[in-house]
Amino acid sequence: MTSFTVNNQPVHYELDPATPLLWALRDASNLTGTKYGCGTGDCGACTVDIDGEAVRACQVSIAAIEGTFVTTIEGLSRDRTHPVQQALIDANVPQCGFCISGIVMAASVLLRKNRDPSEQEIADALTNICRCGIYPRLATAIRQAAA
Ligand code: FES
Repeated sequence: MTSFTVNNQPVHYELDPATPLLWALRDASNLTGTKYGCGTGDCGACTVDIDGEAVRACQVSIAAIEGTFVTTIEGLSRDRTHPVQQALIDANVPQCGFCISGIVMAASVLLRKNRDPSEQEIADALTNICRCGIYPRLATAIRQAAA
């Protein structure tokens, strides 16, 4: 059994310990806001917060995160629209929306660590891929959320 905390709830998975966190979240916990894009750690659609760090959930096994605290997009925005989400809405950022939960997770981690990120720091932290090409509006929205 592998145990850790997801969105402030203890979880105990009877899965192969090598199972990627992405699939434990999606298939065992029905937390489908964490998206599968590439499975190779490149796109960032699967980004979650693990102990305050933005982590690509397709690249980490459940065994590797025993005892940690995981926050998914569902946990981040359970009680309210997160300021990053509101900034993305206000700047009309999302198009197809598939990559957005991963971007929100990466941006929320960035802003928790750095309340006034530079353009370069935003670019360094948000390496998520968006096929719709929202990047210019996204950078504006992140700066708005930081303000
Ligand atoms: Fe994990 Fe693309 S699905 S980085």
